[in-house]
Parts: sequence; structure tokens; C-alpha cells
Amino acid sequence: MAISKLLVEWYNTNKRELPWRETQNPYIIWVSEIILQQTRVNQGINYFLNFIDQFPDIKSLAESEEVEVLKAWEGLGYYSRARNLRESAIIISKQYSGIFPDTYKDILNLKGIGPYTAGAISSIAFNLPYPAIDGNVKRVISRLYGLKEDSASSVFSKKIETIIMDIIDKREPGKFNQALMDFGSLICLPKNPLCKECFLNDLCYANTNQVVNELPATYRKNNKRDRAFLYFIFKEKDKVVINKRTAQDIWKGMYEFPLIEYSIMPAEEEWVDIMQERFQLKGSDIKGLSFSPFHYHKLSHQNIKAAFIQVEIKELSSITGLHDSRIININDFVTFPFPRLIQKYVQHNFQYNI
Ligand code: ADE
Repeated sequence: MAISKLLVEWYNTNKRELPWRETQNPYIIWVSEIILQQTRVNQGINYFLNFIDQFPDIKSLAESEEVEVLKAWEGLGYYSRARNLRESAIIISKQYSGIFPDTYKDILNLKGIGPYTAGAISSIAFNLPYPAIDGNVKRVISRLYGLKEDSASSVFSKKIETIIMDIIDKREPGKFNQALMDFGSLICLPKNPLCKECFLNDLCYANTNQVVNELPATYRKNNKRDRAFLYFIFKEKDKVVINKRTAQDIWKGMYEFPLIEYSIMPAEEEWVDIMQERFQLKGSDIKGLSFSPFHYHKLSHQNIKAAFIQVEIKELSSITGLHDSRIININDFVTFPFPRLIQKYVQHNFQYNI
């Protein structure tokens, strides 16, 4: 079933009961969306109820004093939201005869309304098929579809918008947008998302490729460099290939296994193809293959994610493209210096200690 259909079905039975969800009144939806721009749902509910109590419609807000509106907003922060609400209410009274505008363009033109809020109001109050893309939605879509671009980049935003426009439920866009919001708030959490119980887990790129914690990619947030190491342990009986690190880089002079490095780990299904191409191996050269779980290694300025692929090979001499390599007997491991990442792997996966 299509992702949007699954999302809306899930929403129908699991949605959060929120006071602004009992209506399609654009004024009510507008106030709720402005509060939720910079405020969490739980904190916003009481402010919303009080605000609607005090200013139940566009007319009452347009006729209010600014100071009253600010008082109602007290404690919420970002007070320009309150001033803009009131000014927009005055504009609606004058330019639209007090009736909330019903096109995306006119809604976007109001003060304090950007593309996200215009999309939310258009879709929820007027059933117009516009996306409402916030941080939650970016997280959900980047994981589901495996978007690896920097989440602060315009390429990333464009891709998100294209995907949403492709999958948005045209008949119930408001439901679809809110389904994405709730899904992001209840299941596809920023930290420790509930992938095991997620109804989309087998359709989700990030889950099936074990990159949930890396998406969305936020390159700017920390100045740690992310590196992904794909190690190949080529073994022929007791013999194994190791490499010396010679570049001006971490671990210079230490040993490791033949390595292909990435900034983001390629999907597991690609590993064998990558290996065959890089080392010019034919299927018939390979006797056995096994993959390790990921190993994470933190350095002061780098986060390394490593995978080890054990390759039982008929003849080590059939491997090409190795540099600074040597073939050693497994029992001689102890005589070479290895970084802790490699040591740990070897200790857990080989029958002897180094
Ligand atoms: N966050 C922003 N708008 C929201 C809405 N309509 N429902 C739930 N969370 C939201």
C-alpha cells in the first residue's frame, strides 16, 4: 500500500486529540499554527484555549488592543507572533471583509505566515494540496526515502518538497500533513525512534539500511567529521591481508584491513558489488562471506562507523588494487600495531588474542 495511505490510516486511529482538530474554522487553525510555530504542543494547548476564549474570532482580535494580545501571549516568547496575528486580523477585516482568505497565495501574504504555516492552514482548513514542511516532516521524509543531503541545504529542501507533492493525499491533504506531524512526534522521533513497532519499517530506507541515526544529515550542527569505513578481511585459510596506513591522517603507521572509505555508509546490499569492482573479484573467487554489525568509534574530532566484511577467498593472489598491503599469518597479528577499532573487532571475531 502507498505510504500516504498507510500514514492516513494510522492517523485515523492514532492521532493526538487536540482542541484545534475539532474544527476546520480557518481562524482557529491559524491561531493554533502560529502558537505551534515555536512552541511544543503540550505547552501550547492552554495558551491556545485561553487565546480563543478571549479572542474567539477575527473581529474580536482585529478590535483588540495590542497590549491585550501581548498579555495573552505572556510567557510564550517570540512576541512578534502575537503582534502579527493582530495586524493580520486587521488586514483581513479591511481587505477581505473579515473573511479569512482561502488561497495559498493570499494566506502566505499575511503577516507572520511563511510557507510552512500557509501550507498547514491551506491544507487543514481549505483542503488544498500544499505541503507543510517543518523539522519533523524533514526528519520523517529523509529517513523514509534515504535523503543524505545536508538538511540545511536548498537541494535537500527541494527534494523534500518534490517527494511530498508526489505522495500527498490530494483528497485529504490536511489529514496527510497532520499524519506526518504526528508520526514524527510519536514514532519517528529524533532520538531513539520506535522503528521496531513502526508500521512503515520495512518500507523505510533508513531502517532497512541501518542509517536511522544518521538521517537527517546535519553536517553543521557539530564540527565532528563523520567517516564510514568499509573493511574487507580477505582470508585464505590462516592467511589474511592487512594494510599499513601511510597517509597524513589518523593512525598513520598503524595497520588495518583493506579499506574503502565513505562519508556515509553505503547500503548493505551494495557492499558485494563495491568489493567486486574495487578489488576486481569474480564470484568464483569467493568461497564465503559474512558481515559484521556496525562498530562505532568516536575520536575527538571524528565519528567513525565501521563495517567488517569477512571474505573467504580461494586465492589471495586474485585480489588486485591493493596498496601498502601484506599477507600475514593470522597468528602473527600480535606483532603488528592496530588501532583499537581493529583490535576490538579481531578480539571478538577471531579465536586468539592480539
Ligand atoms: N505542529 C504544528 N502544527 C501542528 C498541528 N496542526 N498538529 C500537531 N502538531 C503541529
